[in-house]
Amino acid sequence: MTAYPIQASTALITGAGRARGIGKGTVDALLAAGARRVYVAVRDTAAAAKVYAGYDPRVQIVALDLEKPGSAEALAKQLGDVQVLINNAGLFTGAGALGSDADQRREFEVNVFGPLALTRAFAPVLARNGGGALVVLNSVASHFSFPLGASYSASKAATHIFTQGLRRELAAQRTHVLGVYPGPIDTDMAEKIEMEKTSPASVGRAIVAALERGDEDLFPDGTGEQMYAQFRQDPKAFERYLATMA
Ligand SMILES: NC(=O)c1ccc[n+]([C@@H]2O[C@H](COP(=O)([O-])OP(=O)(O)OC[C@H]3O[C@@H](n4cnc5c(N)ncnc54)[C@H](OP(=O)(O)O)[C@@H]3O)[C@@H](O)[C@H]2O)c1
Repeated sequence: MTAYPIQASTALITGAGRARGIGKGTVDALLAAGARRVYVAVRDTAAAAKVYAGYDPRVQIVALDLEKPGSAEALAKQLGDVQVLINNAGLFTGAGALGSDADQRREFEVNVFGPLALTRAFAPVLARNGGGALVVLNSVASHFSFPLGASYSASKAATHIFTQGLRRELAAQRTHVLGVYPGPIDTDMAEKIEMEKTSPASVGRAIVAALERGDEDLFPDGTGEQMYAQFRQDPKAFERYLATMA
């Protein structure tokens, strides 16, 4: 458990091109904490340029498509100064366990295999820069099957397990690994979720604070924290409760 100071650091965050995403909230928190540079990696650089028009000059937009083979490796060759890698980009299709095979595969590509490829590509960069830190946006739904999307939950369960594996495997090169487990957050992704939602800005601030404390796991909002506590108390009863929500 190593506290990671953001002051004067260089960060790379994926999927931070939307005006009201967790990514943009985290970019703002990194800048407020004194980051030297924040690379915002997006698949649509023109759209992101509009969101960040006239913004803080420490923000630099770069191209990354997690579904495109070779995209992660090309970025790692280009950005040798990254110290903090934040795997934030994600996809929610709403596919159930019996849902579309194409949707399920895309969800696993964007949520699991894409971020893994990016982490594999950037691990040597982090090592060369003193170890640095890795942040993975999992979900409270990494722990149980959320009624609106069993396939999304399954992909986030995979990222949760990979986060633990990455923490163990990257310990030798002194990379701190933070897993983030949000509940419902007020972004485009959660538009259809009718629950109390937390602002993406407050999740961003919580991520930066957790890095600076050296936390390994973060439940950044009250609703998610409460759901996780209910799940832990009686997993079977919670599964039955979730089934009534469907
Ligand atoms: N919102 C919630 O309630 C909630 C709860 C728990 C966990 N999370 C997780 O938190 C993270 C951020 O979520 P959010 O709510 O801020 O979502 P969001 O606003 O939908 O943003 C997701 C971002 O991922 C990007 N993305 C999708 N496919 C991509 C690809 N192939 N290559 C590169 N980028 C891609 C999107 O890019 P485009 O703009 O180009 O589409 C978008 O900017 C996700 O990992 C999500 O699963 C969210």
